[in-house]
Amino acid sequence: MTSNKIKLDVVILAAGKGTRMNSSLPKVLHQIGAKPMLGHVIDAARELCTNKLHLIVGYGAEHIKQAFESEANLVWAIQEQQLGTGHAVMQAMPGLNTEDEQGQALILYGDVPLTKTSTLQELLDQSSPQTLSMLTLITDNPTGLGRIVRDEKGTICAIVEEKDANKEQKQIKEINTGIMVIPAAKLNRWLNALGNDNAQGEYYLTDIVAMAAAENCEINAKVITDASEVQGVNDKAQLAELERHYQMNKADELLQAGVTLRDPARVDIRGDLQTGADVEIDINAIFEGEVSLGNGVKIGPNVVIKDTTIADNTIILAGSNIDSAVIGERASVGPYARIRPGTVLKDETKIGNFVETKNAVIGKGSKASHLAYIGDAELGENVNIGAGTIVCNYDGVNKHKTTIGNNVFVGSNSVLVAPVTLADNTFIAAGSAINSDVPDGSLAVGRARQRNIPGWKRPSKN
Ligand code: UD1
Ligand code: CA
Repeated sequence: MTSNKIKLDVVILAAGKGTRMNSSLPKVLHQIGAKPMLGHVIDAARELCTNKLHLIVGYGAEHIKQAFESEANLVWAIQEQQLGTGHAVMQAMPGLNTEDEQGQALILYGDVPLTKTSTLQELLDQSSPQTLSMLTLITDNPTGLGRIVRDEKGTICAIVEEKDANKEQKQIKEINTGIMVIPAAKLNRWLNALGNDNAQGEYYLTDIVAMAAAENCEINAKVITDASEVQGVNDKAQLAELERHYQMNKADELLQAGVTLRDPARVDIRGDLQTGADVEIDINAIFEGEVSLGNGVKIGPNVVIKDTTIADNTIILAGSNIDSAVIGERASVGPYARIRPGTVLKDETKIGNFVETKNAVIGKGSKASHLAYIGDAELGENVNIGAGTIVCNYDGVNKHKTTIGNNVFVGSNSVLVAPVTLADNTFIAAGSAINSDVPDGSLAVGRARQRNIPGWKRPSKN
């Protein structure tokens, strides 16, 4: 990376309440792709620079700090009252090295979550400790935003806010995104000279641009065209809009990687999805947390998969819900299977419709094809669990384990009352209630013997 990486301080503004979100949650904690907006900004900043990150918070400060308490190298500055973007940056200055003439500060906003690291890197590349560099956007809809004022030579000489702009300035279509790289020592000096004599009575960070111009400090802009990269979120409509942008970007990455998406607009990645070759994903699949799909994996429609690894050539059929599982090769899950945390499905297993598993290891080639509950259990290879089988793992107070060997056949509608062990090659008669261990090779019949009463008279109406 560039040498300016070393002397770079990142300052992230996140003190605003976000009134228009109509929510008690601080704005920057609202999520895109299941990650707080501020988390996206922090992650992008970390890719650029390993130094400490300075965060300016105000509304909901404790809540925000708590959300990021596991993150290293964050320096928090509190802005009690939101007196403007310049005032916000002032709060971080004590933490910055303003003595060093080589120092630079990158200003980011906590509510602008989709700026690409590559864009920020390009901005840094065109900046230097002597220049003020900013990211600008040309837009047909500049209303409400700060306008970039250039002189007749095209040199930037000021930023004027919408509320302070004259008629002519309001026509300007190049706007300030807010993202800037500023020489740190100069920034300190300029901030100390800021006033709030403007339409909003705020300390505008943008006023430093005219100060820089007056000192003949070189000012340059990186003009970008993709508005979503610099779009801020002020309300739930904009949050939803950026969520769609984010998801389309994710879908594009998958398509580039060779994944077949039946409809790129109907897949949601809320975390990190790794994919092998020839993966196919049908519509309305949701991936949460860390999910890895091996080669040739097929995901059916309306499937939710969270924190799970799926090996090669396994298929997940419609409507299945999978959480914190490890699934082997050539397995088949669903339709409508519920795979809960701690499930391990070995190779060539089959978990069919309306089967629920939890904390269960299902050995190679074993099957539970219909309507069953398997919890706190360990199954060997080639086990067949009949329809309607229930593992009673819970006695109302404690959970107990069920152990099933290899080549076991459990007849339909059986209950296995844990703790219990079915040894290898055992056979459980349909409708059995099994509450004691079954030895190797045995048939267990755990039900009342059937009686037939001939000529049975049905009850008649009085
Ligand atoms: C600011 C810029 C404007 C630019 C626009 C881009 C100034 C004066 N104006 O507008 O030129 O086009 O961003 O969106 O800089 N914040 C604080 N403390 C404050 C004020 C703001 O932390 O006292 C934070 C907000 O939480 C937000 C960001 O700074 O993350 C921008 O604030 P916002 O009010 O949205 O921007 P404007 O000041 O309207
Ligand atoms: Ca605003």
